[in-house]
Amino acid sequence: MTRDDALNSIEANVENRNLINHMLTTEAIMRALARRFGEDEEEWGLTGLLHDIDVELTEGNMHSHSKLGADIARELGATEGMARAILCHNEAHGITPETSLEKALCCADPVTGLIVAGALVRPDKKLEGLTTKSLMKRFGEKRFAAGADRQQIAKCREMGLELEDFIELGLEAMKGIAEELGL
Ligand SMILES: [Fe+2]
Repeated sequence: MTRDDALNSIEANVENRNLINHMLTTEAIMRALARRFGEDEEEWGLTGLLHDIDVELTEGNMHSHSKLGADIARELGATEGMARAILCHNEAHGITPETSLEKALCCADPVTGLIVAGALVRPDKKLEGLTTKSLMKRFGEKRFAAGADRQQIAKCREMGLELEDFIELGLEAMKGIAEELGL
């Protein structure tokens, strides 16, 4: 599977621009994590890119969300490891993340919400001036970006990354595609 194959499938299955941006953001963070840990950047990036491809197709049905996504990824040529990571990022299935790829996706997915929200409350609504320090403070404010599951994000420690390092890595990865995101 090439990145273009994945993007074409996203174009065909997802309309919501915010959702596409969320997948691009997750991809950028997964690529940065793969580089940090010496893992396969393409495999990790494409897993992040595709992880929510079925959200519109499954219309909020949490029993099918990510099962269908894993199947679509397989059809595109994803490895079984990638497909399983996509499947288990939906906690509703009760599958505990085991591999480093699975753990990475489960942390990268929610941290995107915290960082986007951090940018949007700034006067310029941009990522550029946003700092890890301010995001660490926001992390402690439960009502800020409440959908960004703090427990899930904090599981970065299971990958051997301190929370602050993880947030910094995520922020820098997102700054790298800020123009594409319009942030
Ligand atoms: Fe997601």
